[in-house]
Amino acid sequence: MTYAIGIMSGTSVDAVDAVLLEIPPDGNPVLRETATRDFPAELRHTVLGLMTPGENEIDQACRVHVELGKLYAEIALDLVGRAGSVTISVIGCHGQTVRHRPDGPHPFTLQLGSGAVIAGRTGIPTVTDFRSADIAAGGQGAPFAPFFHRAVFSSDMSCRAIVNLGGIANVTLLPRDRSEPVTGFDTGPANCLMDLWTRRHLAKPFDESGAWAAGGALDEHLLGQMLADPYFSRPPPKSTGREYFNEAWLDRALAGSGEPVSPANVQATLAMLTARSISGQLPPAVDALYLCGGGCANPHLRALLGEESGLPVDDTSALGWPPEWIEAAAFGWMALATLHQSPSTLPSVTGASRATMAGAIHYP
Ligand SMILES: Nc1ncnc2c1ncn2[C@@H]1O[C@H](COP(=O)(O)OP(=O)(O)O)[C@@H](O)[C@H]1O
Ligand SMILES: [Mg+2]
Repeated sequence: MTYAIGIMSGTSVDAVDAVLLEIPPDGNPVLRETATRDFPAELRHTVLGLMTPGENEIDQACRVHVELGKLYAEIALDLVGRAGSVTISVIGCHGQTVRHRPDGPHPFTLQLGSGAVIAGRTGIPTVTDFRSADIAAGGQGAPFAPFFHRAVFSSDMSCRAIVNLGGIANVTLLPRDRSEPVTGFDTGPANCLMDLWTRRHLAKPFDESGAWAAGGALDEHLLGQMLADPYFSRPPPKSTGREYFNEAWLDRALAGSGEPVSPANVQATLAMLTARSISGQLPPAVDALYLCGGGCANPHLRALLGEESGLPVDDTSALGWPPEWIEAAAFGWMALATLHQSPSTLPSVTGASRATMAGAIHYP
């Protein structure tokens, strides 16, 4: 047996999620242990601040790089403690994205969380900076979970779409015929705009179960204004983040809609924006949606996705994987590939000129 740890903290900056994977020889990974840590409030605040250009970024980013490295190491050591006497070959730590600009003349992406600190504190080789090689090869550097989705969720019976509802939403399209390429892309916001609107008006981190949105009324005019954003009609490959879909984006859309819209109705419209933008970008071949990520815990959003897509909607637990751990598992799985010097990115998804060995390895 081989063991790997995967660690993820996504654009929501809500928590760090980590998994211990057990991989049988020539087999698919199995989830052994899980761990999660909420973001300390001050660290969260600094991370969010770093997502848009501001003052003294280098000092702040370097401090966060080390602080996050310690937090990630702590959660990895928690898993090591629970793993018993097994040898863990590698840690794959995605890190915290603070800037993702995959387009333009000097494309780049930046994830914080020091691999040197993690490897040093855990004694386990640690892979970080997964996305840069793909970007250097002309790709979007995202999404990367499709490599893992292909391994564990493919079916010969139907064309499945795996829909990750994090801060941003990304879909993976798994063709029934395994000789056809897997595709996938970021569709736009999943929870990030709903979260910030809920913080602004209810002073809560998110709209529990989507209840606030469910009690509001959809404003079609505002929705039309939002869906007119060129990102939604741009063909893949494409990826996005909070440097695009953020407070300023939402405020522009609200200002452009003319008539003031009540906060509850804005929230209802944002929920529909997520559902309609995802549904509208699915190819006709898709037979069923399987959801993962924190948005799975939002029954209102799930219902809207079913209505808008006209497809059966379930979450990945129906396929044997609890939805909140998929992203962390993906990076543990990719790190193992990197340790074995095997490529783990899909040019059919990212648009890169070739598959790359994702990430840099830090040895203890
Ligand atoms: N009970 C819930 N009701 C509604 N939304 C939820 C619930 N639990 C989690 N979420 C949503 O999921 C988000 C976190 O999802 P996650 O997959 O961790 O995203 P990321 O990868 O961006 O960190 C929260 O910010 C929130 O919007
Ligand atoms: Mg999260």
